[in-house]
Amino acid sequence: MPLHVSTHPLVAHKLAILRDRTTEPKKFRELVRELTWLLGYEAMADLATRPEPIETPLEPMTAARLEPKVGLIPILRAGLGMVDAMLELLPTAEVWHIGLYRDERTLKPVEYYNKLPDAASVQVCLVLDPMLATGGSAAATIDILKEWGAARVKQVSLIGAPEGMATLSAAHPDVDIHVAAMDSHLNERGYIVPGLGDAGDRQFGTFAGPASEPGHGPDEETAEVVRRLQRNLGD
Ligand code: PRP
Ligand code: URA
Repeated sequence: MPLHVSTHPLVAHKLAILRDRTTEPKKFRELVRELTWLLGYEAMADLATRPEPIETPLEPMTAARLEPKVGLIPILRAGLGMVDAMLELLPTAEVWHIGLYRDERTLKPVEYYNKLPDAASVQVCLVLDPMLATGGSAAATIDILKEWGAARVKQVSLIGAPEGMATLSAAHPDVDIHVAAMDSHLNERGYIVPGLGDAGDRQFGTFAGPASEPGHGPDEETAEVVRRLQRNLGD
């Protein structure tokens, strides 16, 4: 499972502002878009091209055109903020939404939306989700995509945790993971530390109060899920 952590200074700079607790939703959304553009550029660097004869105003030449049909798979809802930037890079990409939320107690993904057609219509799928925390949402989405018939899948996230990377690489060793940063660890509520908090809430301004904040009221069942993931990391 190749892990690609961006080393681009622009990515680091924009990520610093994104993480800052005082960055409000409008600016946060702009930064998610800009970071996705930069990460998307890196994530698509190895896509195949085919030769195509064209004529410039000066003479005929053999140019390169993108070969595979690409699908963008945003995981609802936080992945939505990454779609427009990717579509700017690849206007002909298909967008297939997958709805998953993470049960706050068990940290397991719960599927609620999937309208994929019977057979895969793209060769390369880019899974878009700002946060790779336990890796449960990403692994479940990629299970769905592989069952659908996707030949090649790449995960594009803004911030990853070692626990999520380990889970995803064990479940799908063939999947490339592209992140702007790999952070330190998950806290007892399964939030990435230092992270940026809740990516969905920060994009969409849905702050429901202290109970929704990372770190609020540790729950023993949730903490045990995180401890298990961390023990697996040490193996
Ligand atoms: C967040 C995030 C990922 C998931 C990551 O979504 O956008 O989808 O958590 O966590 P995991 O790696 O532990 O599965 P959330 O469940 O908060 O839903 P939302 O996007 O609707 O807010
Ligand atoms: N989901 C988020 O939005 N943030 C985290 O840190 C973990 C999961």
